[in-house]
Amino acid sequence: MHVPGLARGLVLLGCWFGMAGAVHAESVERGRALYETRCSACHSVEINRTGPLHAGVLGRRAGSVEGFTYSNALTASQLLWTRENLLAWLKDPEALIPGQLMFLNVPDERDREDVVSYLMTLKSDKPSSSPQNSNPKPENKQ
Ligand code: HEC
Repeated sequence: MHVPGLARGLVLLGCWFGMAGAVHAESVERGRALYETRCSACHSVEINRTGPLHAGVLGRRAGSVEGFTYSNALTASQLLWTRENLLAWLKDPEALIPGQLMFLNVPDERDREDVVSYLMTLKSDKPSSSPQNSNPKPENKQ
């Protein structure tokens, strides 16, 4: 064998990705539990409650879930829910979007990271067939 260096490099790379994956999975799991205790009083993944549903929140425009009545501040913000914006929102919603109506924050940085890791896994690939969705308008894909 004449490629031990390369082979070792690949093995190391493999380990690195493996570890990153494990750390990420742990963060998502922790985030899921935090979501249950801190967010589910007002939010759910699939339906609007006191707060808007969270499926597909990553990459969504703030204030854009159909059938949910947002504050004018949130709708007018035109903010895109990127990872950074979600972290900032959870740190201090009022600082990010003054006049918003979510009176809760997540003071601990690790908690915020984990909750956002979890939020990022929530895809909206399911057809919107929930009974709450009484608004059969064709949705614009973006
Ligand atoms: C006391 C109720 C309440 C709790 C608890 C709560 N939220 Fe909210 N959330 C709201 C309301 C109400 C809004 C809409 C705010 C507005 O219109 O200004 C909102 C909006 C949001 C949005 C913006 C969504 C969009 O479609 O633009 C995100 C993201 C969010 N919440 C995440 C969370 C997370 C994560 C948690 C848990 C750490 C949480 N919220 C806990 C009530 C709550």
